[in-house]
Amino acid sequence: MPAKKTVSRFAQAKRFGDKLTMLTAYDYSIARLVDQSGVDAVLVGDSLGNVVMGLPDTLQVTMEQMIHHTRAVAAGVQNAMVVGDMPFMSYQVSVADAVLNAGRLVKEGRAQAVKLEGGVAVAPQIRAIVDASIPVMGHIGLTPQSVNAMGGLKVQGKGDDSERLMRDALAVQEAGAFSVVVECVPAHTAEELTKALSIPTIGIGAGPGCDGQILVYHDMLGLFEGFQPKFVKQYADAGGLIKRAFAEYVSDVKAGTFPGPEHTFNAPQKLAKLY
Ligand code: KIV
Repeated sequence: MPAKKTVSRFAQAKRFGDKLTMLTAYDYSIARLVDQSGVDAVLVGDSLGNVVMGLPDTLQVTMEQMIHHTRAVAAGVQNAMVVGDMPFMSYQVSVADAVLNAGRLVKEGRAQAVKLEGGVAVAPQIRAIVDASIPVMGHIGLTPQSVNAMGGLKVQGKGDDSERLMRDALAVQEAGAFSVVVECVPAHTAEELTKALSIPTIGIGAGPGCDGQILVYHDMLGLFEGFQPKFVKQYADAGGLIKRAFAEYVSDVKAGTFPGPEHTFNAPQKLAKLY
């Protein structure tokens, strides 16, 4: 069995120009399947709020929910690195809160690293968590926890705004993050960030110039019937497949063709009389 991946894999990939791959997972069974694909890391994202809980944004996701799902994912992953997302207000209020909650994701959720959103503004939190020996993945560009401040989920880093993005990226790196997610920024901006940084960039809606890519698995499998972003490639219509299977089950039960003899326990006559 290959060795469990760690932050060293990320540093090595950047050095050798080897692309990194990540997918999300939120439970044990899917985490096992994702892990078997050979991804470098599994993110238990706070996108949990959208794709698992059906909420309009990620703002209501709690630490308890993140710990619960991270623990389930960690149980299913053997090789990939497990990264737990820090939910809204688990790190913004104070540096002490940030370290405490990052620690909970590691101790109670069994994450190997945490991810948090923001650049210059959260650099002190990143530094303190890293000083507590917990690896941090940054997240800049479109940061969904700032949906209200940004006035919606919009492409970031266009024009002059790309300078702010560069400042954020450098602050995250300087604070000690081992990698950074770059979400929804123009491809040339993401490429410039990638060239300027010595830590790997993991793109989502940031073009092919990043050091790696991440997707939410519901999006790439056609499982989420809500909004489908332009940057998603749908690799399978698992939603269609599941719907057809459920409908077939319903019609089998109604027609009396399920359960069949092969799904039925038959006790010997004598025993059967006991009941
Ligand atoms: O929560 C999440 O799934 C994420 C990814 C989209 C990067 O932050």
